[in-house]
Amino acid sequence: MSNASSVATLQLIEVSKSFGPVVALRSGSLEARAGSIHALVGENGAGKSTLVKIVAGVYRKDAGTFLIDGEPVDFGSTAESKAAGIAVIYQEPTLFPDLSVTENIFMGRQILGRGRRIDKGAMHTEAERLFKSLGVHIDPRRPALGLSIADQQIIEIAKAISLDAKVLIMDEPTAALSGVEVERLFTVARQLRDEGRALVFISHRFDEVFALCDTVSVMRDGSYIETLAIAETSVGEIVNLMVGREIAELFPKQETEIGDIVLSVENLTSAGIFHDVTFTVRRGEIVGLAGLVGAGRSEIARAVFGVDRYDAGTVTMKGTKVPQRNPRGAIKSGMAFIPEDRRQQGLVTEASVAANISAVIRESLTRAGLLTRSVENRAVAPWASRLEVKTNALDAAAKTMSGGNQQKVVIAKWLASQPDLLIIDEPTRGIDVGTKAEVHRLLSELAGRGVAVLMISSELPEILGMADRVLVICEGRLTAEFSREEATPERVMHAATATQEVAS
Ligand SMILES: Nc1ncnc2c1ncn2[C@@H]1O[C@H](COP(=O)(O)OP(=O)(O)OP(=O)(O)O)[C@@H](O)[C@H]1O
Ligand SMILES: [Mg+2]
Repeated sequence: MSNASSVATLQLIEVSKSFGPVVALRSGSLEARAGSIHALVGENGAGKSTLVKIVAGVYRKDAGTFLIDGEPVDFGSTAESKAAGIAVIYQEPTLFPDLSVTENIFMGRQILGRGRRIDKGAMHTEAERLFKSLGVHIDPRRPALGLSIADQQIIEIAKAISLDAKVLIMDEPTAALSGVEVERLFTVARQLRDEGRALVFISHRFDEVFALCDTVSVMRDGSYIETLAIAETSVGEIVNLMVGREIAELFPKQETEIGDIVLSVENLTSAGIFHDVTFTVRRGEIVGLAGLVGAGRSEIARAVFGVDRYDAGTVTMKGTKVPQRNPRGAIKSGMAFIPEDRRQQGLVTEASVAANISAVIRESLTRAGLLTRSVENRAVAPWASRLEVKTNALDAAAKTMSGGNQQKVVIAKWLASQPDLLIIDEPTRGIDVGTKAEVHRLLSELAGRGVAVLMISSELPEILGMADRVLVICEGRLTAEFSREEATPERVMHAATATQEVAS
């Protein structure tokens, strides 16, 4: 239990930060207490990550108060922040891939043995002890390369504990994790709380906030709004504080006439990844690809679009066979593909927002070899504004956008290409609650205009709310197909875990 009378371990009061003319943080306040998990929520671009980066010593605040254990601090580097007992876990950890797990944990502070030689054995033993205390199994001797994001995060946490961090901040740590991995992370987080550390947790998923956190602070437009006890609030109340307006219906599914087959996938097989997958997507139809994380859904999508190779089977668009491993050919055939990992696979971070959105349609905008900024801005502005990517940001470099806004830019890019088939992997992951509804409305509208949509999602409500037909993938195989009427949470979950049940 937190001790209300004690001084907060971490406290920020009316902290601000601007980048040139852009006010990233207007008036951010945050308090984290020992023995408590504190949620920080807000729409994309609200200033959450900027606040975290000030605490982490990445940025220096322009104004405001920043206290650790009641003492004013102002970190000029990440090293100063670490030394003060602060650890930050980002969505994409930054381990050194070629170094071992142990070397990553003890980076820059080796345990010395006799003769002041680095005692590798002692370091491995200590790493093993740390993992054991966290109840996880990771081989400390293996290289970091090839570890799952979930394991990399646990290693960052182990490092934080070995540095005896008293504040642990996690900025959207669950975005790339499977259900089981999220549970493991939460178990570790609760243990750290019970040890008396102060935790801050950022997420766009309210179920996670309610499952894990004790208190929640809401931010909007760079400012602190309110702090509430989780036990005394509701999703509705938090959402209202976050967006400051009424939210449209989350699944605005419109009735659409379903037409001819656009995409036909037959007996698609990639050894060890997916087997004998056959399905179609029709004009005006939203087909939901359901299943557990790791079932092979993204791999199927990548093969269909020609990013990855496959061993057997065919992909046909509007009656014409699409050659394999040829994304350019796939785009020509009328496909668009919005990958799951949008920031890494879909964005040129150095280029402007406008240039990113126009990337696929640039050719059609170019006149006599020239593309003027005004033509480009005019073409991309409607897509940007539909996704609430602020249009005054069109000339800014994509890397200056918040995480969620970068995702929206990639979605806008593919919508602007006006495809016959849109493949979208986890359409609303990392996207705030207000824009989620907008993404759903866009998908529904695209279908209404005759676009065939293949939507992969791990969120069952999203699948059930948006899909005309649900295909369930389990361990690389298509295990069930349901019409919109037939699809229930129980049926889909059962099919998604089918072979595992048989095996056990
Ligand atoms: N280095 C930068 N240069 C210019 N603007 C920036 C920079 N970093 C952040 N911003 C702007 O500051 C605002 C807040 O961004 P921030 O990343 O803190 O949002 P966030 O709340 O973490 O959003 P998300 O939920 O999408 O991750 C955004 O409008 C963003 O474009
Ligand atoms: Mg962020």
